[in-house]
Amino acid sequence: MKTSYKYLLLAAAFSLAACQQESDDSKVSKEGVKQEQTVDKGSDNNAKKEVDAKKVDTKRVDEHSYGNLDEVKLTHLDLELNVNFEAKSLEGFVDISFDRLKDGVSTLVLDTRDIDIQKAQYMTEAGWVDTEFDLADKDPVLGSKLTVELDDSTTKARVYYRTQPQASGLQWLTPEQTAGKKHPFVYSQAQAIHARSFIPIQDSPAVRVTYNANLKTPKDLLAVMSAFNEPDTELDGDYHFEMPQAIPPYLIALGVGNLEFKAMSDRTGVYAEPGLLDASVAEFNDTEEMVRVTEEMFGPYRWGRYDLLILPPSFPFGGMENPRLSFITPTVIAGDKSLVNLIAHELAHSWSGNLVTNATWRDFWLNEGFTSYVENRIMEELYGKKRATMERALDVQGLRQEVEALPKGDTVLNVNLDGRDPDDAFSGVPYTKGQMFLSYLENKFGREVFDEFLVEYFNNHAFQSLTTEEFKKYLNENLLEKHPGVVSMDEINVWIHEPMLPEMMPNPTSDAFTTIDSKTKAWLGGETQLSEMGSADWTVHEWLHFINNLPEDLNLEQMKQLDQAFSLTDSTNNEIAHAWLMLAVKTNYDVVMPRLETYLVSIGRRKLIVPLYRELMATDEGAKFAKRVYKIARPGYHPLAQGTIDEIVGH
Ligand code: BES
Ligand code: ZN
Repeated sequence: MKTSYKYLLLAAAFSLAACQQESDDSKVSKEGVKQEQTVDKGSDNNAKKEVDAKKVDTKRVDEHSYGNLDEVKLTHLDLELNVNFEAKSLEGFVDISFDRLKDGVSTLVLDTRDIDIQKAQYMTEAGWVDTEFDLADKDPVLGSKLTVELDDSTTKARVYYRTQPQASGLQWLTPEQTAGKKHPFVYSQAQAIHARSFIPIQDSPAVRVTYNANLKTPKDLLAVMSAFNEPDTELDGDYHFEMPQAIPPYLIALGVGNLEFKAMSDRTGVYAEPGLLDASVAEFNDTEEMVRVTEEMFGPYRWGRYDLLILPPSFPFGGMENPRLSFITPTVIAGDKSLVNLIAHELAHSWSGNLVTNATWRDFWLNEGFTSYVENRIMEELYGKKRATMERALDVQGLRQEVEALPKGDTVLNVNLDGRDPDDAFSGVPYTKGQMFLSYLENKFGREVFDEFLVEYFNNHAFQSLTTEEFKKYLNENLLEKHPGVVSMDEINVWIHEPMLPEMMPNPTSDAFTTIDSKTKAWLGGETQLSEMGSADWTVHEWLHFINNLPEDLNLEQMKQLDQAFSLTDSTNNEIAHAWLMLAVKTNYDVVMPRLETYLVSIGRRKLIVPLYRELMATDEGAKFAKRVYKIARPGYHPLAQGTIDEIVGH
């Protein structure tokens, strides 16, 4: 399949812009990434741990990659893959182009997990020659280190491989697991360290590559990638992609299924299964406006097109910011645009995350905190202050509850991941604490000054990855020192390195929520009826606040009254349903059980289902229900969700 000339030109223009932005990129390696990975595999050598912990903040050490990043700098990938649904395997090879950073480098060290390696080669003047390779035993967190022998001048290696059906970064869906029920579907989810389960690669966010890919698929299916996707591509099972901007491995993504495309504007559109396409377009047709207001606030959108891929409901996340093509859960198609902050969020990553990237997963808050902040600014711009404030207030209340239950170390923004899988430290902390830190800075310096700082920050670090320490230095020089006496470095350090939530954290309050609180109190005190709550024109956010703040010791009669008055068990809004089901499990309101079963079986988004399983496991009867339902639901869940819930429910 050919990419049209027009689009190649467009891509070339962006590529040029990317190269210009990229001049500083080599810094990553020059500053010396540690050669050997330092994950402590269970040794209880505390002294060593302390030394490692000290190193964490001062060096670019990616403890989650085996790659020899200080010797070899990957620059480009060419992927040739056959998408084999019968074998649940991607089969083919990857050509890896790299620069040499030192003399005498004789190996290329890559990350892999559950990949069968068939052959390795490197390029010589005479063409490809076979070479030795070694695939080490599997580490439970990091996977298997792959060492490819090189001669002393080659700058290109080829690895022939086959992914295994259980690859953690891929979900293979049978036709029954899709909306249309007729065609299989596969999609990838590489963040944080799952790219290595479908491409042998230096799987560190400090690495950046451009890529081209050819995917061969069954003829009736469409393939898309986090690259340029031609909107009116021919359906022929042979697809070509080019990603001219250098991106970290965790942003390489693909999806293959019975997909159709519908444009929402010249540069935005939706890919979805045919049955979901119109509803998706209706839900998300503010996307162009979102891009426009974000550009106005934070500088140009640098990635060409911005499309959405609507995934099957088993997608374990709300969204994933794969460049040029965000991956989106269908669970936010509510019919009223009430959950489109998800789109604002994934779009915002086009600045914070995809353009300016965390150098290691300890710096994840740089991605998600900035993105949550920008997301809320987009929401304010497009839907007004009232809604944006409600969204902040809901998140902050969630955060306050969450930090009480988290291990203290996980409430630190610059989290220590020594020996851990970054997935295991996932929480609302990098998101909402990070966002509140930036809100705090905005309040202190004023929006105008802070916006200017942010625009400069994005421009200055475009197409680079940076650490928390580098960010602090930049912040100090470009904001704190320019406006002395406003915020001290000590305060910054409290935000970034101290556990729990600082006193100085802003506390977003919504008048609408305050009104709800007093009405709820009156109802609970027996002074008013539910019909007097004034709920007729409540937004989804008001409903969420209302349900989230009902006492957990409501009696069954009160639960029944609520349900009769507001039909909460039948809510078609997945967030409202989640909040209500959580309360129902806590209060033993078992009328919801059939609805809860359908919910758990039909949705695989971790944020919505994991808390429900946890809550169910708190009682014997709940646990029995959870185990029975999980048995039915598990085959439909993504490997990541399976992993999480196996630990909660048992398998
Ligand atoms: N990049 C994340 C999803 C992610 C994080 C995947 C870490 C794997 C590891 C994405 O941008 C995200 O934050 N999604 C949220 C959106 C929400 C905050 C609006 C989600 O999935 O719920
Ligand atoms: Zn995000």
